[in-house]
Order: sequence, then C-alpha cells, then structure tokens
Amino acid sequence: MYLHGTSQINDKGHLQIGGCDTLQLAEQFGTPLYIMDEALIRQRCREYMEAFKASGLKFQVAYASKAFCVMAMCRIVEEEGLSLDVVSDGELYTALQAGFPPERIHFHGNNKTPQELAMAIDAQIGCFVVDNLVELHMLNAIAGDKRQRVKILFRITPGVEAHTHEYISTGQTDSKFGLDIDNGSAYRAVQEAVELPHIELLGVHSHIGSQIFEVEGFQMAVDKVIGFAAKVRDEMNVIFSVINLGGGFGIRYVEGDTPLPVSQYVKSITDSIKSNFARFDYPTPEIWVEPGRSIVGDSGTTLYTVGTYKDIPGIRKYVAVDGGMTDNPRPALYESRYEAMLANRAAEADEELVSIAGKCCESGDMLIWDIRLPKVETGDLLAVSCTGAYNYAMASNYNRIRRPAVVFVKDGEADVVVERETYQNIVGNDVIPARMRPVTKTV
Ligand code: LLP
Repeated sequence: MYLHGTSQINDKGHLQIGGCDTLQLAEQFGTPLYIMDEALIRQRCREYMEAFKASGLKFQVAYASKAFCVMAMCRIVEEEGLSLDVVSDGELYTALQAGFPPERIHFHGNNKTPQELAMAIDAQIGCFVVDNLVELHMLNAIAGDKRQRVKILFRITPGVEAHTHEYISTGQTDSKFGLDIDNGSAYRAVQEAVELPHIELLGVHSHIGSQIFEVEGFQMAVDKVIGFAAKVRDEMNVIFSVINLGGGFGIRYVEGDTPLPVSQYVKSITDSIKSNFARFDYPTPEIWVEPGRSIVGDSGTTLYTVGTYKDIPGIRKYVAVDGGMTDNPRPALYESRYEAMLANRAAEADEELVSIAGKCCESGDMLIWDIRLPKVETGDLLAVSCTGAYNYAMASNYNRIRRPAVVFVKDGEADVVVERETYQNIVGNDVIPARMRPVTKTV
C-alpha cells in the first residue's frame, strides 16, 4: 500500500498515521474506523491556495463538501481560507452550524427546493449556482418576496466529456445538469437573467467530471467558456466577472493512477484563462474552482478488523472484514479500486493473494479483488487507504449496520469528529403505531 501524507510504518511494525499507532486507535475507538490525516488535508488546502496566489488572479477555492461534509471539516476549510460548495439543505445546515461564513458558501444542485432556496437566502450565502430556468425564476421570486438581490452563476454544460467512469461524467451535452452552450439554452438563460430584478449574474460555472488526470479537458472547457463569454459580451453587452471551472482533479488510489500535482492543475487552468481571455480582449475574470476528492481523498484510511475467511481451493480466498459497502460503496457502485495493508503486521512480506469481502448480505459487497497480503488471520487489522472522499459521505445503514466513527489524527493526537452510531441511532426514527405495540407482560 502506498503511504500517503504522514502514514508510516513505526518501529513496532504497525501502520501509524498522524503520529498515532493504528492499533491503539482501533483499541480506543473500535473498528471499522475512518481515520483522517489532518495535516494532509491542510496541506492540500494550502497547495490550492498557494498555487492560485502565485497566478496573480483573483480566485476562490471552494471545497466541494459533498466529498466529506462534517462540522470539523468545515472548520478546517474556514481556517485554511477556502470557500465551501454545498448541494443540499443538510450540507448548508452543517456549514452554518460549524460557524462557516455564509458569504463564502456557494449553493449547487439541479433541483434545489423552494425551502432550500429560502433557507440559503435567509442565511445570506455568497452565491447560487443556478442549474436551469425553472430554478432561475423560482429564485428570483423567492428573493423578491424577501426583498433581496442574490448573486448567481449559471451552470453550463460546455459539451466536454472528461475521460472518467461513465457514471460520474457530467460535462457532456446529454446530462441532467446545467444549461447547454451548443443548443442555445445557456444564451437564453443569460438573456432572461439580466431582466430579473432580484438576480445579479456574476458569470458561469462548468464541471466536466471527476477523478480526471489530464488538463486538456479543463483547457477545452475554458475554450468553450470564453467563446460563450465573448458572444454574450458582443451581443448583450454583459461581462462575466467570475468563471468557475468546478472540481474533478484526480488522486492516486492505486498504482497506475497518475494525478498531476495540484500546482500543475492550477497553473494550467490559470494560464489558459489568462491567455484565452487576453485573446478576446476580455477583462480577466475571477477564477473559482471546487475540488472535493483532491482535498480529502488521500487523507482518509479505513481500519477494519478481519473476521472470517473462506478458502475455495483453486479459485480464491475470501477474507471478510467488519465493514464493507455500508462504509465504502464505491467498489460496488463504480468498480473503484483500493490498496490495503495489514496495519498490525505492516512490515511483513506478502504471502498470499486474497479478496476482501464486506459483511453485507449481497455478493456485490466486495472491497478489493485480488490483493497480496501477509498470511491473514482472524483479528488482524486491515487498513484501506484513500477513503477520505465519498466514503463517509456515501455511507449507509444497509442491513442496519451502524456507521463508523471518524477521527482526525495529527501530531500524535486523535480527536473524534463523528461518533460511531449507536443502536439507539439505528431505531431512533422508527415509530411503532399504537395498534402494533408489543403487549407488555404483567407479572
Ligand atoms: N463541483 C461540482 C459541480 C460537482 O458536481 C462535483 C462532484 C465537484 C465539484 C467535486 O468533484 P471532485 O473534485 O470531488 O471530483 N460519488 C462519486 C463522485 C461524484 C462527484 C460528483 N460531483 C465518487 O465516489 O467517485
């Protein structure tokens, strides 16, 4: 397993993260356990901020909180000076509860409800990324009722398809998201927005996909966006002051994944913005991005305890852990691949080829197919790396399995940022109608 951030093997031969021995973490907090390397999260935030500062452009880096949204994470994002992108009332509520400055919050989503729009207007958030014309008029009306004028970007689909898993590509024309440039929807949206009294149009947003390794897709998107911006300026005399290029920057999950350093993604985007806008004699806009995975993905490690195993001679050995698709649905959903190691025997040589199964009642609940490990025994601790993004965020209670705790580790200290769910949490919202209540026995 590749050792990310502060992960290392200590002199006891144990995996250690943020100065904490993972065996002690397992003992103290139980397994499965999400461990987040706080120093690495902060480092990634700083890489973005510094790369943009170096570009000399005005910018905002908005952490896409969908990747991992808990209050302590919102605190880090604020402390590091980033903005925050939310996509639901739940994420917005989390940010506000964490004391995140509302003016640095951007609200996304293809179907924000009237209640969500009202909540965000009341909170005085910084910007709405409007996805379609229904939302535009709904937002204008609600803002009008509240005597407010709100700032918006339009989400446009530039028609660029990033090379990524088909389920998570969003930049192409046939998408549930955004207004198409090529078929004229984006142009009509600008025409309508400039007529609306409670809307202030700042510019446009495009997001071309996720887990992207090349910069060409972003450059093509910039190309399309500038062409559109120039047409809007020439024909409507509207100048965009903000261009948001979304997220999608890839990370290294397994060998063969080849992400660029953050600084290179940023440089190529900002260079492309500078040269393209200069080419059209267009005032250089403020540039916003929305990384999610690349801020938190490689900071996360999930720690499991090995339970049962089953050797099918000549076929494979299944090793089952105490979690699975409930804490990490990505292998089942996207065929995502992960690396792992035995955290309690991290220095030992690999001896056997096994496949890691989860404990849910379905065959698709597999975490890793074919991984080489030392001879695995019941009670071993298995650490799966790169689980910081879209794991806790997408976790479920399938089979009524309780969601694990999340701890932040740093300089030898471990702080719980999400408690492990309890049995009470599991039945907490259940209601037994009176007519079905069990008869209480009288003695
Ligand atoms: N901005 C917008 C508008 C997005 O839709 C997304 C991700 C992001 C930013 C952040 O993208 P990132 O930097 O994290 O790639 N559940 C999937 C990923 C879905 C991504 C959805 N949108 C997964 O586990 O791979």
